[in-house]
Amino acid sequence: MLTRLAPSDPFLADQIGELREQTKNQMIYAEQVDLSSLHSIRKFATKWIDNAPPRRLDMLILCANTLTPPGGERTETDEGIEEMWMVNYLANFHLLGILSPALRAQPFDRDVRVIIPTCSSYIASPDLVDALSKKKWSPKKAYARSKLAMMVFGQAFQKHLDAYQRPDKLPMNTRVIFVDPGFTRTPGMRRWLTRGSVWGLLLYVFGYVLPWFFLKSAEMGAQSILHAAMEGSLGRGVGGKLIKECMEVDFARNDVKNEDIAKKLWEASDKLIEKTEKEQAALRALEKKHQKMREKEKKEAEQAQEIEALVDTIKKGKEAEKKPSRRQRKKANADKTESTST
Ligand SMILES: NC(=O)c1ccc[n+]([C@@H]2O[C@H](COP(=O)([O-])OP(=O)(O)OC[C@H]3O[C@@H](n4cnc5c(N)ncnc54)[C@H](OP(=O)(O)O)[C@@H]3O)[C@@H](O)[C@H]2O)c1
Repeated sequence: MLTRLAPSDPFLADQIGELREQTKNQMIYAEQVDLSSLHSIRKFATKWIDNAPPRRLDMLILCANTLTPPGGERTETDEGIEEMWMVNYLANFHLLGILSPALRAQPFDRDVRVIIPTCSSYIASPDLVDALSKKKWSPKKAYARSKLAMMVFGQAFQKHLDAYQRPDKLPMNTRVIFVDPGFTRTPGMRRWLTRGSVWGLLLYVFGYVLPWFFLKSAEMGAQSILHAAMEGSLGRGVGGKLIKECMEVDFARNDVKNEDIAKKLWEASDKLIEKTEKEQAALRALEKKHQKMREKEKKEAEQAQEIEALVDTIKKGKEAEKKPSRRQRKKANADKTESTST
């Protein structure tokens, strides 16, 4: 399980413990990846593929998602990329790009699946080629666009896998499967309905009968994802299918399969990642340099303090030497009285 929480987080440890108990599977574990950071993704994924022989990889479920509630402000990640574009699309593009050799290295008889949960909002998305300017930005448009990008890229990724010539000349057996789980009462949906406000949450709680009646439970929402993960027939034939209500459905937009758009998107994403990673690497190097300088200055200040303290003790010692001792003072007093009496 990939999570942005640290593995030492007590809630996460509890959750993993519970999952292990319920499934009697001690192999479940968590790794930390912050999908809003290209650096975090690269660190995790390069470590993961750096293994010989290649690790077994059966399935990737790219479920992470973020959605700014209506009226919300445009936010950027620490690396300067619009947050929904980053988490919902670019993170998956980056992760799949790095894990691609691991997918291609799986034995030909392994049914490997890349499951991409999506949302019908992609149907109303503005075109991908029209860059969404900061002025025109709205949470709804930006979310829909990130979902459309993920679908266009998913199709292109399937073609990229299919085009790979295995050394054993056997066909590739990895399939990308898109899933629309339908409207579901998940934390993300709750945040969207409540606008992320306390008032919204109170309304949600008091009017709970409405979401309860109109939205699926998380378990019901998961059924199409589970179908995509386990239905045997989806492991045969062509990849790139869309599943909704546990059935294969058509894409509602033709440009999802448009190769020109996919090529432009792929190139632009590669460029953005390269530019951002270079900038971030330079910033990290600068920060490291500053850190070293700060440590050096701290060390020098400590040394100066030590020298000062040493000089102080030497001075005190010399003063103490100059000061006559009690015996000397006594003797001097005695001499003085003797000379006055004579
Ligand atoms: N719910 C619906 O009604 C609905 C409808 C249609 C489609 N879908 C699709 O179903 C999928 C799942 O949606 P959902 O409603 O379950 O979403 P959700 O409740 O918002 O959950 C999203 C998950 O993504 C994780 N995440 C967010 N930002 C992350 C980051 N920077 N790094 C790592 N993990 C991060 C969250 O982690 P934390 O727990 O740490 O926050 C959370 O576990 C999405 O692809 C969505 O488009 C959902």
